[in-house]
Amino acid sequence: MRILVVGGGGREHALCWAIAGSPLCDKLYCAPGNAGIAQDAECVAIGADDVDGLVAFAKDKDIDLVVVGPEGPLVLGLVDRLEAENMRAFGPRANAAMLEGSKGFMKDLCARHGIASAAYGRFTDAEAAKAYIREQGAPIVVKADGLAAGKGVTVAQTVDEALSAVDQAMTDNAFGDAGAELVIEEFLDGEELSFFALVDGTHALPLAGAQDHKAVGEGDTGPNTGGMGAYSPAPSLTEELEAEVMENIIMPTVRGMAADGCPYTGVLYAGLMLTKDGPKLLEYNVRFGDPECQVLMMRLRSDIVPALVASCDGMLESFDLRWMDDTALTVVLAANGYPGSYEKGTEIKGLDTVAETGAMVFHAGTKAEGDKILATGGRVLNVTAYAPTIAEAQQNAYKAVDAIDWPDGFCRRDIGWRAINR
Ligand code: AMP
Ligand code: GLY
Repeated sequence: MRILVVGGGGREHALCWAIAGSPLCDKLYCAPGNAGIAQDAECVAIGADDVDGLVAFAKDKDIDLVVVGPEGPLVLGLVDRLEAENMRAFGPRANAAMLEGSKGFMKDLCARHGIASAAYGRFTDAEAAKAYIREQGAPIVVKADGLAAGKGVTVAQTVDEALSAVDQAMTDNAFGDAGAELVIEEFLDGEELSFFALVDGTHALPLAGAQDHKAVGEGDTGPNTGGMGAYSPAPSLTEELEAEVMENIIMPTVRGMAADGCPYTGVLYAGLMLTKDGPKLLEYNVRFGDPECQVLMMRLRSDIVPALVASCDGMLESFDLRWMDDTALTVVLAANGYPGSYEKGTEIKGLDTVAETGAMVFHAGTKAEGDKILATGGRVLNVTAYAPTIAEAQQNAYKAVDAIDWPDGFCRRDIGWRAINR
């Protein structure tokens, strides 16, 4: 098969690495890719949001399967456009990608189909939003409705903080059009869990669970990021909990989306809060988590390509995937200053010594310049290791981190602490 992966982060490197290992893959392209991905795929200089460019390339190269990594092109309708050209594409169509593209859409779906989620209101008027906040009191959560690159959520501890989040979105336009509508919702307390399922429109196949660390600082403190590290399996995801999530959250969503005329295909990523009243849905993403995908791909024993094809072709019923029992853990190396402003173009050395430690480095934001590897993003490398226990996986990952020579980057030193201290 000729396969094209769309995207250029650590998630796409992990996907390319897994797909390149499949005997079914004859040729692998990645658009736009990065310096690490170039080891597994031929990178082509087409941006992940350049829908016209991607469709033209896929047609020209006679691609058999397009795997879309990030949410942007899904919301823009890349899968619809590829299907219109009779090409197979992994990921939801635009109307189903609304599960991530509009938080209000996702909340209304939950309300209609009885899926446990925080109580909420939708607002296009700042005064009405503020009145609701004053009535509900704090803590309370203010969310921009649309895609805001992971920045549109304020978990407000006080009413004042929530009121200024409304102004930030609606008066200062901090999130552009994405903040023209707000979802304001009940604060949920508990442990967070990322749950992934492959979906083919009708059936859903649960994948392994994972947990990520969103805060930039050790002990889960400081501002939120895209994720500073992750591990899989997640000790809190028991068999009973998986069955409960499938029955009460994932399957009602799959049936509800089909009944509403927007059947879901691709990977469905449920951000869950494990509350004392049971699991509740915080959000849906219509793609793999980043960096959760990296640990999932490391643990996957089965060939991923037939699973991706089965999701596209409506063939997931009775499909099975096998996972390593070991724990995989990934540590994100980010540019100093991230998630605030940071320098680009700094040189990373020592990557060739990592292989000796047994760890794997997925590249998230790098480019090659001659023999040099340069950092191009906020999150730059995902150092990923596995071992029979999470404590050993953590040790292995940090051993590899220490082999990398990049004074302009930093990482959290406590990835996995919650699971290790359980
Ligand atoms: P989201 O983009 O909706 O996942 O929100 C980003 C982060 O905000 C989540 O990972 C949670 O840590 C936090 N969050 C979102 N919604 C809530 C909520 N209703 N209660 C508590 N925390 C929340
Ligand atoms: N790691 C969180 C996300 O991918 O949204």
